Amino acid sequence: MRRPVIAGNWKMYKTAAETRDFFRAFQPLVAGSNHCDIIVAPPFTALAAAVESARGSAIGIAGQNLHWASEGAFTGEISARMLVEAGCRGVVIGHSERRQYFGETDEGVNRKTKAALAAGLTPIVCVGETLAEREGQLTHTVLQHQFEGAFAALTPAEFSRILLAYEPVWAIGTGRTATPEMAAEAHRYLRDRAAAQFASEQASALRILYGGSVKPDNIKGLMAQDGIDGALVGGASLDPKSFAAIVNF
Ligand code: PGA
Repeated sequence: MRRPVIAGNWKMYKTAAETRDFFRAFQPLVAGSNHCDIIVAPPFTALAAAVESARGSAIGIAGQNLHWASEGAFTGEISARMLVEAGCRGVVIGHSERRQYFGETDEGVNRKTKAALAAGLTPIVCVGETLAEREGQLTHTVLQHQFEGAFAALTPAEFSRILLAYEPVWAIGTGRTATPEMAAEAHRYLRDRAAAQFASEQASALRILYGGSVKPDNIKGLMAQDGIDGALVGGASLDPKSFAAIVNF
């Protein structure tokens, strides 16, 4: 049985003070929620507040990005070691906004994934096609490239520590969700890729999260699908009540 994961990606929202307010309201709503892993990924400047607020709870805190080098002259960047020291257990890698606006490549995603693994962080690796790619029947091709690029030269043991997020770009922040069937089909395809590149053991253990306009009113249908093991939630993770409703699907 794959344990569900509900992760919140806050993007560039919330100060440290707003983060503390969020946790004060959120924690009582999920205090008894032992059925899934809960992860929150705040901006770097709110990590300390999030880690401190979540201390003693099962909520894991994650970064939203990292640099693959352990240190160096890379102005504006943060390393895996720095995230670990800040109290992070995971890190989001290759989010479509990073690919789209900050030139993130499959090769960069691969280097970041390896750096995160080496530092003991859980990589939450995002893949997904654009609307033009879906309409051009290129969804599988794109997912295959992103998958193989992200996980090139990983050992099966390393791959078993990955959380994979399928986020169709056209569904992110648009209010337009993939139907549960569409999401499940993409998840099946990705699980097949895992079996092909690693082995059936890793493929069946792999947790694949769906992301893209996940809300309290569509989470149940998504989670009812066989191969959907959780959600990566953007907008709806900013409000403690709506994120708790998603956690408690
Ligand atoms: P959204 O974002 O839930 O606001 O669509 C999802 C994501 O970008 O991870």
